[in-house]
Amino acid sequence: MQSPRGTHDILPSQIAAWHKLETAFEEIASLYGYQEIRTPIFEQTEVFVRAIGEHTDVVGKEMYTFPDKGGDSMTLRPEMTASVIRAAIQHKLLAENPLQRLWYAGELFRYERPQAGRYRQFHQFGVECIGATTPEADVEVILLAVALLNRIGIHEYKLELNTLASKEVRQMYREELVKFLQDNKEKLSPDSQVRLEKNPLRVLDSKNPNDKIVVIDAPTIHDFLDEVCQQHFDTVKTLLTAENIEFTIQPRLVRGLDYYSHTVFEFVSSALGSQSSILGGGRYNDMFVEFGAKPTGAVGFAMGIERLIMIMEQLQPDLYQAPKPKVMLVTLDRESLQYAQSIAQTLRQAGISTVADLQRRSLKAQMREADRLGAHIAVIIGENERQNGKAVVKNMQTGEQQECAVGDVAAAVTGWL
Ligand code: HAM
Repeated sequence: MQSPRGTHDILPSQIAAWHKLETAFEEIASLYGYQEIRTPIFEQTEVFVRAIGEHTDVVGKEMYTFPDKGGDSMTLRPEMTASVIRAAIQHKLLAENPLQRLWYAGELFRYERPQAGRYRQFHQFGVECIGATTPEADVEVILLAVALLNRIGIHEYKLELNTLASKEVRQMYREELVKFLQDNKEKLSPDSQVRLEKNPLRVLDSKNPNDKIVVIDAPTIHDFLDEVCQQHFDTVKTLLTAENIEFTIQPRLVRGLDYYSHTVFEFVSSALGSQSSILGGGRYNDMFVEFGAKPTGAVGFAMGIERLIMIMEQLQPDLYQAPKPKVMLVTLDRESLQYAQSIAQTLRQAGISTVADLQRRSLKAQMREADRLGAHIAVIIGENERQNGKAVVKNMQTGEQQECAVGDVAAAVTGWL
């Protein structure tokens, strides 16, 4: 039996990297005043269809959707933003505090074609800043993303920035873009010919080489921005520059989810190969309206944890180094096992991580195991020690050893740690 295609087990030998990242998420999020939110891993299908948009790849092709036993259509979450906004509205979080700074980490499900950095079950860390329409909020989440990447030692990336303007401006632009693409329809790939009908903006970020050539001459949304959109975007750029954050304007960055307006961004890394996006996000003021609530400013991003780990693997040789037990109890005979176990308990109660042999192996095998585990200290018990209420404490690094009374083992061990 194998795990399903596109999923992966996170093995004990890999878990240290995940723990390091989780610690960093918590640290940086709380440094910026963000609080964690956890939502169910499945929602009513409608939540995602409304928020993400019917004509996106995510909703059209990639969702794990199933009728539950009551006949309701449920979907394993393909992203978190829709769930977080659903929860914010349901629990009236904004009535408690009109500005909500939230973060999350968890698993997502998308039925995609698996490849390096692309899975069917993957994990994201993300933040949502809800309740502000200001460009300062856009910049705050970008600064948080930068701080997090710095904190985990990732410095090689590019920030790509664009605006998708307001709904009205986007609609005007969309009409012009469709005219242009219609005129060039025969040069487009079959996929993009379909996108042209359903979701023309997505033609702009097609990976197909012929499509890429066609869209070079396409009008960009920047030719259509009204004063409000232009000002918002200009302020974001000014604030980023003031914070020494480098970025490039990528006029064809449209993102794969339909809920965005105004600022959108991606952090990309050449270390990732074809799935180059480490994180993506932007502003999505219209999602509340889709959910029947009043218009509310919101902006956020999510980063792919597997992709962070792929980059960190290349940079940090000690990424997978897990904490080691400090002490191993070694027993010379069967009768000493119980005696050893109560010493082990005393050490654990003193907060010293301790393991004991459970397999009744030879002294040599146990010492080899202590070495393999990287234990600093071996506590050795034989008949002699047992009868005299003593133990031998051996420093595995220096080879030094001392005999002490059983009540003094914790003190002797602590002295060498
Ligand atoms: P997204 O661009 O769909 O945005 O995903 C964000 C990140 O999740 C990507 O940059 C990538 O690192 C990772 N990711 C996406 N799909 C996969 C996959 N199949 N396998 C591995 N990693 C993947 C969102 O999900 C939005 N909710 C982000 C957002 C938050 N926008 C506003 N707030």
